[in-house]
Amino acid sequence: MTLRELIARRIRTRGPLTTAEFMELALYHSSLGYYSRAPRRTGRAGDFFTSVDVGPQFGALLASQLEEMYRLLGDSAPDGFDLVEAGAANGQLARDILDAAEADFPELYRAIRLTLVETSATARATQSETLGRHTPRLVAASDRMPDRVHGVILANELLDAFPTHAVAMTHEGLREIFVDLDENRFVERTGPLSTPDLARYLERLDLRLSPGSRGEINLAAVTWMRDAARSLAQGFMLLVDYGHPADTLYSDSHGTGTLTTFHRHRVGTPEDDADQRGGPAWFAHPGLQDITSHVDWTSVTSAAAAEGLDLLGLPDQTHFLLALGALDNPPTGSDTRSIKHRLALKTLLVPGGLGSTHHVLLLGKQVGTPTLRGRSFKTRN
Ligand SMILES: C[S@@+](CC[C@H](N)C(=O)[O-])C[C@H]1O[C@@H](n2cnc3c(N)ncnc32)[C@H](O)[C@@H]1O
Repeated sequence: MTLRELIARRIRTRGPLTTAEFMELALYHSSLGYYSRAPRRTGRAGDFFTSVDVGPQFGALLASQLEEMYRLLGDSAPDGFDLVEAGAANGQLARDILDAAEADFPELYRAIRLTLVETSATARATQSETLGRHTPRLVAASDRMPDRVHGVILANELLDAFPTHAVAMTHEGLREIFVDLDENRFVERTGPLSTPDLARYLERLDLRLSPGSRGEINLAAVTWMRDAARSLAQGFMLLVDYGHPADTLYSDSHGTGTLTTFHRHRVGTPEDDADQRGGPAWFAHPGLQDITSHVDWTSVTSAAAAEGLDLLGLPDQTHFLLALGALDNPPTGSDTRSIKHRLALKTLLVPGGLGSTHHVLLLGKQVGTPTLRGRSFKTRN
């Protein structure tokens, strides 16, 4: 049975699905889901690029931030320094960080106890191979966050990949957008909210969608943050993702919502999916393409604050990486390696690229409120 058939059968027997339920199946069904079927979905051979796919430079710069966090924690962690990466895919970012730490920060390297958290068993199965000689640093590879972390919880493009609810402001008030069937075709249907948490979410933000507009409410991101914050005993969180403050995300500038699909480096078009032609892109090719939405930084940060975490900054990726020295000593040669290095930095930093769309949420627990290295960018006059 294809995933499309499986989803259609579920709708016929149980009724329309929320967008979160649809995305859960399309992305994470245990054997047919988009992320369950491959160890890594990104990069040239995949459907979209993350900063990790650009080259080892991103991980190397993060290693410098992690080294400062390690020093700030000092010897309060006698057993070593937990580095927990959530949404680790095949472990490529961890590999890049460990390569750089081994070369530039040997004390940090020796202290790292690495945990890779990843829901896809297919991806988990490839992590040791990716880590190579660093595998002894790996203490756990799991689909769950560890209970007690003393160090850093890190994630790149995790929250945007969570299944999210979608809502619309209609003349009847706030309604939820469901996925229903019209013969064999998935169609949108609005109906009463599947949970009062959706209305509460916007009330807590003191925001209302304008009539006719729609948006996503990512309850899973808030729950993840709450749980991760609880599991952090002492240390830092560093989350990189694309998103906006809530008053921007739920304003008319994003009034058509932010659900986006990626397939072979193109923002999805359903035209090549005969059953979905002309419909919303996120219904097309379930299990074969990525579906993602922008992160609400306000709600995620509030969930962290409610668990006792301090906000240490939310710089954009460009200024974060510049502060970590991205342009301090770029290789100037005309050999392929130097050219690739400079091109990678350009992709990570230039306006309109990953640098300006992505932000870095920096949080601390029981570490005071230091100005971290990644926040130290100063414009020169
Ligand atoms: C967009 S990919 C990012 C991969 C990698 N971090 C990068 O930047 O290249 C999101 C990853 O998060 C994983 N994921 C989704 N939900 C998760 C969860 N609750 N816990 C751990 N991993 C999760 C997906 O399976 C996928 O591998």
